[in-house]
Amino acid sequence: MYPHLFSPCRINGVELQNRLTMAPLYLGYAAEGGGVSALLLDHYRLMARSGVALVVVENATIDHPTGSGSNRTLRVDSDDYLEGLATLAGTIKQEGARACMQINHAGRFAGFAPQPVAPSAIETFGRMPRALSRDEIQELAYKYSNAARRVKQAGFDMVELHGGTGYLLAQFVSPRTNRRDDDYGGTLENRQKFPLEVVAQVKAAVGDFPVGYRFLADEWLPDGLHLTESGRYAQALAAAGISYLSVMGGTYESFFLPEIMEKSRKEGYMADLAAAVKRRVNVPVIAAGRIASGALAEEILVQEKADLIGLARVLWADPDWPQKVKAGRESEIIHCDQDCDTCTQLVMRGKPAFCVRWPVEKMRSLKAKFSQA
Ligand SMILES: Cc1cc2nc3c(=O)[nH]c(=O)nc-3n(C[C@H](O)[C@H](O)[C@H](O)COP(=O)(O)O)c2cc1C
Repeated sequence: MYPHLFSPCRINGVELQNRLTMAPLYLGYAAEGGGVSALLLDHYRLMARSGVALVVVENATIDHPTGSGSNRTLRVDSDDYLEGLATLAGTIKQEGARACMQINHAGRFAGFAPQPVAPSAIETFGRMPRALSRDEIQELAYKYSNAARRVKQAGFDMVELHGGTGYLLAQFVSPRTNRRDDDYGGTLENRQKFPLEVVAQVKAAVGDFPVGYRFLADEWLPDGLHLTESGRYAQALAAAGISYLSVMGGTYESFFLPEIMEKSRKEGYMADLAAAVKRRVNVPVIAAGRIASGALAEEILVQEKADLIGLARVLWADPDWPQKVKAGRESEIIHCDQDCDTCTQLVMRGKPAFCVRWPVEKMRSLKAKFSQA
């Protein structure tokens, strides 16, 4: 059953037992203040136990509070958090999965920042971010590299830079949100300068250690970043030594547009974006987006649209997904409901997420644990 899906592979020398990965999924389970909570550990233990080869932990902030989405965004901006992060990495690895952590600066989407910063001052949901100075840009590259160093030190197998969802790295690359008139703005070469500087500094800080990238292939906005430019950017990242590209589409400014919501209900809705990126690069590519069945996952691999599969809500709704698919028990899978966005709405309101498809008992136990987190 599904020989490609359950075949091993390597990312930069790190062996993966199959092609299944957990894509990063922020659920509001960290402790207030961004520490690793018991609830978060329980959650990631379950995800790692599922049988996926690699768990990519949700976005962790490199700069608190200015780069943080919320007060429950994990923190990797100080050595004070190393101990908790080491426990998290150990918990995932103990279950037989490889552990990766995504690091991020949310830029103009930093909901927790008293004063958000961005490449340019462009109004964002009623708030005006402040344009970063050149000195601040250098300082931020240093903060990314320090955060990546901590991820390695905590015992993770890889680090992933968050270049998706319209966060800071994507804000620099996008012609829509980068209106700078210095050498960090204008042409694609200038707009990609800061993220490439971050990659170089991160790689210098971690040495021989895989550095992946969550890659925004298309903003799905008329004046935004599209494949013509992002394809060239993907090639620049590959040339800079990125270990894999985990492809996604959309930002907070497009996710809730009616036509995008409609598109996002379809199974495999980002697989063709992954394929378009894969045609342009020679590093492993991860495809995500409602990859709900073993047959679809296998087809994406067979058709060489991607090298690995990313499961986010799909795995969270049913952590037995990999086992059920492997054993031919797919009819038993509890599927994420395509018409439901309860988890997204909850986290956007600062609440911990639950899945409406979960059995009542599981929901009750989550609520009890959250009150102690
Ligand atoms: C509630 C929620 C939180 C998410 N958090 C992250 C995140 O922290 N980092 C990231 O790169 N993507 C994040 N994503 C995007 C997912 O990784 C994934 O690309 C998307 O949900 C599609 O996969 P799925 O259909 O299996 O959920 C999030 C998505 C949702 C719905």
